[in-house]
Amino acid sequence: PSFFALIPAAGFGSRMGDELPKQYLPLAGKPMIYHTLRTLCGSSRITRVFVVLAPGDEGWLRHDWSDFSGKLVVLECGGGTRAESVLNGLKAARGVSSIGDDDWVLVHDAARPCLAEAQLDKLLDELADDEVGGLLAVPVADTLKRSDTNNRVAHTESRENLWQAQTPQMFRYTLLVEALSMAGGVTMTDDAGAIEALGLHPRLVLSDTRNLKVTYPQDLALAELILRNP
Ligand code: CTP
Ligand code: MG
Repeated sequence: PSFFALIPAAGFGSRMGDELPKQYLPLAGKPMIYHTLRTLCGSSRITRVFVVLAPGDEGWLRHDWSDFSGKLVVLECGGGTRAESVLNGLKAARGVSSIGDDDWVLVHDAARPCLAEAQLDKLLDELADDEVGGLLAVPVADTLKRSDTNNRVAHTESRENLWQAQTPQMFRYTLLVEALSMAGGVTMTDDAGAIEALGLHPRLVLSDTRNLKVTYPQDLALAELILRNP
């Protein structure tokens, strides 16, 4: 089976609070999504990289993407949620590229620009022969408190066996399309959640916290530091 990558980039970055969708914010001299694309397009193991933009996206055309020509396919079919963007992208991708039912698709957030080649390779190595697929993740580091409705601690949750999900998350093309189609309506913040809803158990591949998601303005400085000190 071949490996394809799909990058949902149709969000507006409301928590970032900037007018410009966060994937276009400058980071280490380039728009954020440039770094995301560089790692995935730069991998010789990945056949093609699809980027899913919001219909009418204006930010994309303001930059030069010729570094990735040959590998990158732009799809302007984002939806109202991340899950919809991924599902729309998967369907559109098959229309423009020959993807087999059992080919792998790595779904990776545009907002995770610090993914290292070594983390990507580890994911591919550990899951290439897997039945289900899986995702990069890190064990939870903080102590976790469950609250009552008045923000008083009800109890402390055990950290044992708790992980923070990252991306890429890789699953076989047809399984992922089926899972996301079935999930319709239910809020899924990642792809693995849709696979889990089918009763399957994605594998967690140990990553590290450098593959952070840029969500809030204060995340930008750390992402820039990581990109400048690989
Ligand atoms: N995404 C998408 N389509 C959506 C919503 C999100 O393709 N309708 C993408 C984002 O562009 C991002 C990734 O999914 O690359 C992870 O989502 P998130 O970090 O939540 O980004 P936003 O939804 O843009 O940010 P916010 O939730 O703060 O508005
Ligand atoms: Mg969001």
